[in-house]
Amino acid sequence: MKTFTLGQSKEQVFQMIPEKSIKLVQLGSEKICISRNGELFFAFEEFCPHRMASLNQGTLVRNEIVCPLHSYRFDLVTGSVLSGQCPDLKVYKVQLSDEGLEIQM
Ligand code: FES
Repeated sequence: MKTFTLGQSKEQVFQMIPEKSIKLVQLGSEKICISRNGELFFAFEEFCPHRMASLNQGTLVRNEIVCPLHSYRFDLVTGSVLSGQCPDLKVYKVQLSDEGLEIQM
């Protein structure tokens, strides 16, 4: 497992990831999506496990992401698919601290 840190303070992270946005971020050799709902941050794979639509074009609804292509919904805490039939979404552990946003991959 590898840990990446975005930003160097909470304020910097809040500026980098505005409320309700979904940012595509390159971490090592992988691109992942990072989104935010208030002080809760979520990190998850870039492509939908159904037919590979890019989830940074999706819609954030509370702690769920809705895929832009067929509207399947995924829980961003567990990765579970909530509507539709496909494998679960890969999600990564994130933690906000005074040193930035830590992402474990
Ligand atoms: S590609 Fe995401 S729901 Fe079909």
